[in-house]
Amino acid sequence: MRLLNASGCLDALTAPEVVRSLDAFVTKTITPLPREGNVPVRIAEVEGGMLNAIGLANPGIDRFCKEMLPRLAGIEVWASVGGFSTSDYAELCARLDDEDVAAIELNLSCPNVDEVTENVGETVAAARGATSKPLYAKLSPAVPDVAETARAAEAAGADGLSLVNTIRGLALDERTLRPVLARGAGGLSGPALRPIALAAVHACRGATNLPIVGMGGASTGRHVLELLAAGADDVALGTVLFSDPGAPGRIRAELEVELAALGLVDPDNAIGLAHVDDLSSLDSKSRVDTPGDPGKRLHTGLNVPG
Ligand SMILES: Cc1cc2nc3c(=O)[nH]c(=O)nc-3n(C[C@H](O)[C@H](O)[C@H](O)COP(=O)(O)O)c2cc1C
Repeated sequence: MRLLNASGCLDALTAPEVVRSLDAFVTKTITPLPREGNVPVRIAEVEGGMLNAIGLANPGIDRFCKEMLPRLAGIEVWASVGGFSTSDYAELCARLDDEDVAAIELNLSCPNVDEVTENVGETVAAARGATSKPLYAKLSPAVPDVAETARAAEAAGADGLSLVNTIRGLALDERTLRPVLARGAGGLSGPALRPIALAAVHACRGATNLPIVGMGGASTGRHVLELLAAGADDVALGTVLFSDPGAPGRIRAELEVELAALGLVDPDNAIGLAHVDDLSSLDSKSRVDTPGDPGKRLHTGLNVPG
């Protein structure tokens, strides 16, 4: 298991010490051209988390490659990219193909821009044709069937899934009853997103063989453990980083305690446990073999029927 930041939730240049506490750094979503983003107010606290409507503010791919990437030398960088057409994604991936980025995350799911990419399969296929870098498809949980969307991404050549992006929510001003965010609705992140993220990770683990970066409301070692159990291979921290930049170290320590309580030695041994019917057969190293579909990959060594 690797611990990453969720896109848009950490500025590597102003908080390099937080980046160093992670296994890789995921950039804010980069678009072909620079974007100012939406007008303020762009962030609001709500029960169960926060709403944001940043609107993909970013310097654009040219400045990212020329000015930001060189300053991230020595860090494993995952570049998050977003656009408004399949050709935008293809252009961004082609541009990054020769750059020093370890993976590309396709943001197919931003709730804060009006233009949307309708077809995940088409977009992933266009990106796939443009780069040989590992491609992670970041999906919204607010689709009719996230497992079906994940299968479409896999069929189109994605190497992994990032689950989940925020889900649209609205906050009204206490006094005026007008929307708090200038744009109206925004993306809900934080604790309220956690069960939704767990459900999406769980569904996609059963539906594809792709590795999954799980995220959504994780702020403790227990939360990370649950994402792993649902089927995430890696975990990203988002909203928690705004209130607790020390979260990665704290969460790793908490996770170790959680794993020890289960008699597990390595976080990878917890991956997929929610899919296993009988946990009584877990030995201390969590490596037991049960009959089942050998096609399903579980780090525990357990097989689950598809
Ligand atoms: C302020 C803010 C900005 C974000 N910007 C992006 C972004 O640029 N691209 C993206 O794919 N996701 C973006 N996200 C979504 C996060 O990467 C993550 O998917 C989501 O917040 C769920 O995780 P969390 O509940 O741990 O925050 C943003 C989230 C927040 C709170």
